Amino acid sequence: MYKIAPSILSANFAKLGEEVINVIASGADIIHFDVMDNHYVPNLTIGPLVCSAIRPITQAVIDVHLMVKPVDRIIPDFAKAGANIISFHPEASEHIDRTLSLIKENGCKAGLVFNPGTPLSYLDHVMDKVDLILIMSVNPGFGGQKFIPDALNKLRTARQKINDSGRDIMLEIDGGVNINNIAEIAAAGCDTFVAGSALYGAGKDTDPHRYDSIIAALRAELAKVSK
Ligand code: DX5
Ligand code: ZN
Repeated sequence: MYKIAPSILSANFAKLGEEVINVIASGADIIHFDVMDNHYVPNLTIGPLVCSAIRPITQAVIDVHLMVKPVDRIIPDFAKAGANIISFHPEASEHIDRTLSLIKENGCKAGLVFNPGTPLSYLDHVMDKVDLILIMSVNPGFGGQKFIPDALNKLRTARQKINDSGRDIMLEIDGGVNINNIAEIAAAGCDTFVAGSALYGAGKDTDPHRYDSIIAALRAELAKVSK
């Protein structure tokens, strides 16, 4: 039931197709696709064109994490490009309920993303439209940052809210996840784990890049957690 979601932000972009195929063949579940606009966050990454380029080469769920402002205009483009889940930051939308509906009208699952300083109260009146809650354990914009421990408290609170709702909502963590902390993150109620540098960094010395051993090690840590 635990899902591992490699962030392709840390992949070798000169070989992105291979990197996607290899990480899924190595046992990962979901492709986490970080979209940054040099406005909402101080970095610039990839857009719908790259999403459509990888769509035909994998059956895996593509989990688009929008770090862009404004949000709405780009949503239909990502849906057409084959995204399965589209998540956004509430601060980046003028009308959160409308943006969630727009994602769903475009045939995707909808997620809300919480920065370290963003309260979960944004969920209060839209829980029925949310399919995924993404807790940021770093400030968004860059891979390779250190996990902020308060994210564990936020995960516990979010898990309680999900249980209270009775709905099937994914609870994802993003930022600084590694082999040393994944078990305690799972114990706090998380079910989906984004890993960028810890995962893509670990395979970079093999040719072709393979991720079997790091993914197996992450799963072995998860197996220690009783639910
Ligand atoms: C940060 C991105 C993350 C990032 C995770 O803004 O949303 O997905 O790539 O990278 P690591 O796992 O290296 O912290
Ligand atoms: Zn992300």
